[in-house]
Amino acid sequence: MKYAVLEALRRRDEPASLSALAEEVSLREKEVRDALEALRREGYVIEAQPDAGLRLAGWQDRLIPYEIRRGLGTRVIGSDVRVLERTPSTNDAAWNEALAGAPEGTAIFAEEQTAGRGRMGRRWHSPRGVNLLLSVILRPKLEVNQSNLLTVASSVGVAQALRENLHLQARIRWPNDITIKGRKVAGILVEGRTLATGAVFVLGIGLNVNMGAGEIPPDLREIATSLSIELGRTVSRVEVARWLLQSLDRWHRDLSFGDYGRIARCWRRLSSTMGERVTLIESGREFRGRVLDLSLEEGLIVRLDEGVTRIFHPSTVTMRQPQEEMTKPE
Ligand code: BTN
Repeated sequence: MKYAVLEALRRRDEPASLSALAEEVSLREKEVRDALEALRREGYVIEAQPDAGLRLAGWQDRLIPYEIRRGLGTRVIGSDVRVLERTPSTNDAAWNEALAGAPEGTAIFAEEQTAGRGRMGRRWHSPRGVNLLLSVILRPKLEVNQSNLLTVASSVGVAQALRENLHLQARIRWPNDITIKGRKVAGILVEGRTLATGAVFVLGIGLNVNMGAGEIPPDLREIATSLSIELGRTVSRVEVARWLLQSLDRWHRDLSFGDYGRIARCWRRLSSTMGERVTLIESGREFRGRVLDLSLEEGLIVRLDEGVTRIFHPSTVTMRQPQEEMTKPE
């Protein structure tokens, strides 16, 4: 009901009186007043001018599920969109929902995380209300040990969303970073479990959207960035959220059709790691070599300096890569 009132306001170029709105949506004036209050609580800015009437002036920069879903048009991803004000980790929140039977594609966003986590037990820091923190429930026909495939496909999805909609030169730094000019703008964390119904995965994404340079912790300033820093202007988080879900939905379709070849081709094209010299650290031991390719399920294929070729699984290694991609041509 409140969204009928919202859409009626949105359709109008001129302010509307309460009675005209009530008539348009076939509600009583009291019901329209209640709907307006509920909309304002959700973050919509509805101006009431004594003579002219009511006007939708926009919304505060809050993540509003209705706005994210508006015009989304996805098959699976974003089938349900929820926004939490504060949660330890959206991945945990998504797991709770997944265990309770939430459908595939359910996306859980948070304005704030108190214990956001990254790969290899690291923390994920993000100030409240400026970035995107989200987790999506996935139930693909995969085994739990194929989570790499999801990390690769979703990193392609995130990078493409930023390229196509914001014209940013986003790249993928293996295994789970999205970078712009060599600085990390997003991280991906896929977790999988085998349940009675089959393998279930939670895809967690942290994307720095409107975080200012001063909000980046000092030790990360040289290596992290945000969309607003790169663009020199703030970006609508609602819009970026919608673009992300739409892009993730496309790779989800490729995955469900088994079109792994396309995912691998996109990864090679967008990767800043492909063909580069890298140092990999595994159980305290350093390996140096040049990246030959990626095996979607097994990991990075590297020609080591001592002449052998080895595959490195992302769960066991950390990687150092010279910041060549800052100057690397497109
Ligand atoms: C990494 O770069 O190591 C991955 C970072 C993933 C962070 C996101 S933020 C939303 C979701 N919830 C979490 O606790 N982690 C992921």
